[in-house]
Amino acid sequence: MQAEIIVLPGDGIGPEVTAAAVQVLRAVGQRYGHSFHFTEKLIGGAAIDATGEPLPADTLAAARAADAVLLGAVGGPKWSDPGAKVRPEQGLLAIRKALGLYANLRPVKPHSAALGASPIKPHLLTGVDLLVVRELTGGIYFGRKERHGDRASDLCEYTVAEIERTIRRACTLARARRGHVTSVDKANVLETSRLWREVATRVVQQEFADVRLEHQLVDSMAMHLLAKPREYDVIVTENMFGDILTDEASMLAGSLGLLPSASLGEGRVGLYEPIHGSAPDIAGRGIANPYATILSAAMLLRHSLELESEARCIEKAVDGALGAGVFTADLAPAGRGVSTQTATAAVLEQLELECQPVAMRD
Ligand code: NAD
Ligand code: IPM
Ligand code: MN
Repeated sequence: MQAEIIVLPGDGIGPEVTAAAVQVLRAVGQRYGHSFHFTEKLIGGAAIDATGEPLPADTLAAARAADAVLLGAVGGPKWSDPGAKVRPEQGLLAIRKALGLYANLRPVKPHSAALGASPIKPHLLTGVDLLVVRELTGGIYFGRKERHGDRASDLCEYTVAEIERTIRRACTLARARRGHVTSVDKANVLETSRLWREVATRVVQQEFADVRLEHQLVDSMAMHLLAKPREYDVIVTENMFGDILTDEASMLAGSLGLLPSASLGEGRVGLYEPIHGSAPDIAGRGIANPYATILSAAMLLRHSLELESEARCIEKAVDGALGAGVFTADLAPAGRGVSTQTATAAVLEQLELECQPVAMRD
């Protein structure tokens, strides 16, 4: 197949990790006879520096016309002055909103070889396989923001329709898994959460009778997630809670550098990015963990291009590299981490070993 993939490297380690994922996608394309075409565009701080805007019109137009978008990360100290008129993160929020990508899928499945990198006891981690579905285009991120003298406010709003479509997406995904959905809110305090809970209950009752729905308050969820992570299958929640809980969940896997994501709407074009940020503390040193972005590329193949075997091939290759103990500094014992390029080369090598296109198998 032919596919047009827009690459948005962004800032900090963004260019390092997207370069790794593009190498892997090229190798998969070659192996399976697909022609993936990559076009790089600006977003975030890099776009502000070049054009004054965090999401140039030309980047958005290219994304709309493409089959999929692969993004690194945006932001960094250079653009973080609280008084700044324009911020890199606005570019990311704007592209998610403009493409209607309301469902952000963040799977968490610790690898047995990396259990030592997690601060959680290993016996709690074996068998953990959960998927967070984070609402991505509503809530406090997108409500009116105001600043008057010594007051500031951020409005948190949700509509029934925004909640319904997110719950439906989570339930549909749960059906293909273990059929269990935990909806996370703060219904003891927030009106938006009471609406969320009402809508979730109704949608599941009316449309997903086969799905088991539980409600959990976000504060205790933050605790349960570490105390009994195996109990969870699909966790669905609003924008900000999902942001925070998934950085926490990355510690089940051992590093932020391991968690991929897919942001999906009703259309085919999706945006794929690691859940981590631009990691200014390690940027430019060639030591960032590329696995989260490589796994995001696998999600791109699965969700935007419907190339399931190719997606699995990448996932198996990353599994193989981790299994062989190829760890960047975030996963390795002090002083023993390999470079981004060495980790990427290990994935490419595993691709050769593990992934045979069907036609080539004997
Ligand atoms: P961060 O995720 O960038 O980094 C947190 C910590 O995790 C750092 O110590 C970093 O070195 C480490 N880390 C992250 N990714 C890693 C990887 N692939 N390999 C090894 N270590 C990794 O979060 P932060 O420091 O709070 O934010 C820095 C900037 O990134 C901010 O400007 C923030 O807005 C932005 N950000 C962007 C995105 C995105 O573009 N999607 C996501 C989160 C944060
Ligand atoms: C993420 C990031 C973004 C978010 C920021 C950079 C706007 O933290 O993708 O998780 O909060 O959504
Ligand atoms: Mn985040």
